[in-house]
Amino acid sequence: MDVDERKAEAVAAAIIIILAALAVGSLLVAAGYYCYIGAKVSSRRKALKSPGSSPGDVRGREEPLDPPARKAEAEVEVVVSAPGAGVQVFAYKQLHSATGGFGRGNVVGHGSFGSVYKGALADGRRIAVKLMDRAGKQGEEEFKMEVDLLTRLRSQYLLSLVGYCSDGCHRMLVYEYMTNGGLQEHLYPTGGLRGGVSKLNWETRMKIALEAAKGLEYLHEHVNPPVIHRDFKSSNILLDKNFHAKVSDFGLAKLGSDKAGGHVSTRVLGTQGYVAPEYALTGHLTTKSDVYSYGVVLLELLTGRVPVDMKRPSGEGVLVSWALPRLTDREKVVQIMDPSLEERYTVKEVVQVAAIAAMCVQPEADYRPLMADVVQSLVPLVKHKSTAKVGSSSSFHHTPPKSPVMPGGSK
Ligand SMILES: Nc1ncnc2c1ncn2[C@@H]1O[C@H](COP(=O)(O)OP(=O)(O)OP(=O)(O)O)[C@@H](O)[C@H]1O
Ligand SMILES: [Mg+2]
Repeated sequence: MDVDERKAEAVAAAIIIILAALAVGSLLVAAGYYCYIGAKVSSRRKALKSPGSSPGDVRGREEPLDPPARKAEAEVEVVVSAPGAGVQVFAYKQLHSATGGFGRGNVVGHGSFGSVYKGALADGRRIAVKLMDRAGKQGEEEFKMEVDLLTRLRSQYLLSLVGYCSDGCHRMLVYEYMTNGGLQEHLYPTGGLRGGVSKLNWETRMKIALEAAKGLEYLHEHVNPPVIHRDFKSSNILLDKNFHAKVSDFGLAKLGSDKAGGHVSTRVLGTQGYVAPEYALTGHLTTKSDVYSYGVVLLELLTGRVPVDMKRPSGEGVLVSWALPRLTDREKVVQIMDPSLEERYTVKEVVQVAAIAAMCVQPEADYRPLMADVVQSLVPLVKHKSTAKVGSSSSFHHTPPKSPVMPGGSK
């Protein structure tokens, strides 16, 4: 073997050694990374599977709602059964005294499940108590399931359940109190269909639209299995003292899916004017049914009209049918805007929101967007804007507002 051959052999041996070292190194790095990810995942699972164990916590959380990993950035806003987030169990007496004996003066609304009372707990927390007058029919089992579901869903865009009362025959749900009540009260302030003038300006409407969209996005995409609201509507969007929006009644809507007395509960069909056509016709329910209802609420925010008003002239009674052909026409869309807005909006933004609404209320469910898409489209319309305010003569309890300013300078 001459010198050259020996040299070549040495080089080949060196290359083999380097390659082998590289392979071993890569394996070690991969194994290390695998262990790191494994540790992260298991600690994340542990965090999700160990909810708070306050005395009032409901039982039976064997199947926690796991947010999918693909929504990592959105999870920042979401807390699933965080420690200490458990609900409280109230005795009837406690809620009786918290609401002034369920006095008439404390009634803040009535719904299909009964009356809602405002109240205050001994520690000063303000609450809303929903007194269920149909508890007998729904049964204890369903009531517990309802509480369990609400306990496990936590998002800043969903109304929080403070606790519940299951004392004797009494069934009550105790929620955080939302100072400004339901969105519909602000869109149609006199309680009548057309008489009132809304004080909600464009910026506030967009903020509400975005936050409500985030509430639905959470239900559809950040919990597993997804929760379909089934009764999304303006009265189920509640507003706090700063007009931040939270979606309510997502668990109650689920309860209503069962048959009562052999008849399909009216809640199965949601509320007139908000129900997606395929659900109304076939009972086929998907998250896209909620997207349709969301589109109807967007139309309410744009036009200031209720979803169904048969007192209107022919062809204008059903909001979706009347608005849909006008939504994609720049000239026509400004003609259907809520006169209460007094043209204080930018046409560009209106056109964008109208296009989103048009997609949401498509008769074909597959053509409707996901709520995540809706959120993405609305974010730029709300971002970088100062806290939205309502008009100057609002009769609701909130910080005195300034006159609305036309964004962008022109319409
Ligand atoms: N947490 C709350 N804080 C303040 N007000 C509330 C709260 N929950 C409900 N309300 C008020 O009570 C009203 C009735 O609410 P409820 O959910 O019982 O019925 P609804 O949403 O109008 O109709 P439905 O029962 O068909 O869903 C709401 O419109 C709102 O004004
Ligand atoms: Mg409601």
